[in-house]
Order: sequence, then structure tokens, then C-alpha cells
Amino acid sequence: MSKKILVTGANGQLGSELRVLSVNSNHEFLFTDVAELDITNREAVDNYVSEHGTDIIVNCAAYTNVDKAEDDTEMADNINHLAVKNLAEVSAKYKLILIHISTDYVFDGSKNTPYLETDPTAPLGVYGRTKLDGEKAVTDSGCDYLIIRTSWLYSSFGNNFVKTIRRLTAEKDSLKVVFDQVGTPTYAADLASAILEIIETGKYKSNSGIYHFSNEGVCSWYDFAIEIRNLSGNLCDIQPCHSAEFPSKVKRPNFSVLDKTKIKETFGLKIPYWKVSLREMT
Ligand SMILES: NC(=O)c1ccc[n+]([C@@H]2O[C@H](COP(=O)([O-])OP(=O)(O)OC[C@H]3O[C@@H](n4cnc5c(N)ncnc54)[C@H](OP(=O)(O)O)[C@@H]3O)[C@@H](O)[C@H]2O)c1
Repeated sequence: MSKKILVTGANGQLGSELRVLSVNSNHEFLFTDVAELDITNREAVDNYVSEHGTDIIVNCAAYTNVDKAEDDTEMADNINHLAVKNLAEVSAKYKLILIHISTDYVFDGSKNTPYLETDPTAPLGVYGRTKLDGEKAVTDSGCDYLIIRTSWLYSSFGNNFVKTIRRLTAEKDSLKVVFDQVGTPTYAADLASAILEIIETGKYKSNSGIYHFSNEGVCSWYDFAIEIRNLSGNLCDIQPCHSAEFPSKVKRPNFSVLDKTKIKETFGLKIPYWKVSLREMT
């Protein structure tokens, strides 16, 4: 049966990929960003949902600038936590399903095997803390939900590591990239496709919970940069370096590989290897 799906933060990387894929869907999509629906405004969220008769909310809105969040704590908390509480409570009130996106940064990176959904969280900075508070607001709200934690998101939309490395390797003769942070890139188009597949299965109804999603495989930012450069045909020399060489206000997890067994088994998903997906990005 056709569903009405509200996508919030729809002008971002993930929201834009959902917009592209929605063209081939039988469902009705309502794409909104802050100009159409500011999710920090509880009344606006309630009114929008009741007026449009929504079945599912996919929350792609977030405060995603990890460094800036350290100084802009209130704004990060408003968008990543309090606004998510709005969405969750409205979802509970109108008995909707909330598909909310979270992050590998809820972990401190001290493990050396892929993170399970049940592993203890311990965010290292404001971004991760506010995203974790957003997750708790969802789980405490009583709504039916899927929280999908993802990592190292990139897309042909918006700004991201892939675009930065393409630009820098075109402009420079040499570049240093950290090799002591290990994780897995996620092509936002693959995550968007997985969300639509999950909706198609209808299995979200009985499977409320937290899930992990990234592409398959493991790499450091250095390996990721090398692959981006090789695909771009640029000749820039890239050298591995330690995170300490790039002083930052916020500490990032050294290891944030996500274990995707649960999402694959629950919803029957097949996830592409990260290098294959990187090649797909135009
Ligand atoms: N990017 C990553 O590397 C990464 C990694 C792990 C997890 N994630 C998670 O994945 C999800 C999608 O990330 P993304 O990279 O697609 O994000 P993004 O490109 O930064 O997009 C977020 C969108 O939300 C909008 N927004 C901000 N405040 C809003 C508000 N009050 N009401 C409605 N919309 C608002 C933003 O608008 P403005 O641009 O005008 O602020 C932007 O269009 C997020 O939950 C993020 O935390 C991302």
C-alpha cells in the first residue's frame, strides 16, 4: 500500500539522494528542509504531520559540522537532540514510524572489532553527545522507530571528504592524510536505497530498534583518499600522517567500523563494498 513519507532535512546529502530515488517509488514523498519545516519548532512539526496525514518520517536533518559543534553547543543540541524529541513525540502521538539517522560518533573508538548496536556508547565530542541524546529521545518517546547509525557519509550532493580530496589532489602536488582513524565510508545513495528497501519490506513495523549501516569493508582516511585520487586521475602525492599533525578541538574515534549484520539479516539487504560505491559516484 502506498505510504506518505515525510523527509526532513531533505536538501542535505542523504535527503537529496532520497529525492533522486523517490522518482521510481510508488509512495508519496513530502520533501522538506528548514525553510518548509523547521524541526526545532514542535508546533510546526505537529501541524505539518496532522495536516498532511504522514505515515513515516525519515529524519535526514542534523547539525553535522563536527568541529563547529564544539563552540555551537546550543544549536547542535537544538537540532540533533531537542528537534529529534519533537519528531519522536509527534510520531508517538500520531502512531507514525520514525526512521532517524545517527552516527558512529556515539562511540569512543576504543574497540578494535566492528561496533555492534549493543556496544556501550561514549561520545568524544559535542556532535556525538547531541546525536546520542537524540537517539535517547527517540527510544524514550514510545514511538515505533528505526535508528540507523551510519559513518563517513559522502554524496554528489553537498560538501564531503570525496569532493575535498578531489579538489585538493587537483590543486596540490602533495598532501597528508591521517591513517590512524579507521572506519568505513558510506555512499549516501546506498543508504537512501537501503531506507527505501526497508520501507518496501514493511518489516519496520515489528522491528523497532537501532541498526548500523555503512558500505562493506574497512579503510583509513588515508586509504580512502588514495582511492579517490586514483579514480580522479590526479597525480598528487598523498602521504599518511597521524591525527596529532592536524590539531583539532574535537577528538574523533580512532576506530569506528560498524557491524552491519543486524540490518542485513533483519531486512534482507545486500550492501556494496566501499570501493565499488565510490566508483558509482559521479
Ligand atoms: N555527514 C557525515 O559524514 C555523517 C556521518 C555519520 C552520520 N551522519 C548522519 O547522517 C544524517 C544525514 O547527514 P547528511 O550528511 O546528509 O547531513 P547534511 O548534508 O548536513 O544535511 C542536513 C540537512 O538538515 C538541514 N537542517 C538543519 N537544521 C534543520 C532544521 N532545524 N529543520 C530542518 N532541517 C534542518 C540542513 O540545512 P542547512 O544546511 O541549511 O543547515 C541540511 O539541509 C545526519 O543525521 C547525520 O548526523 C552523517
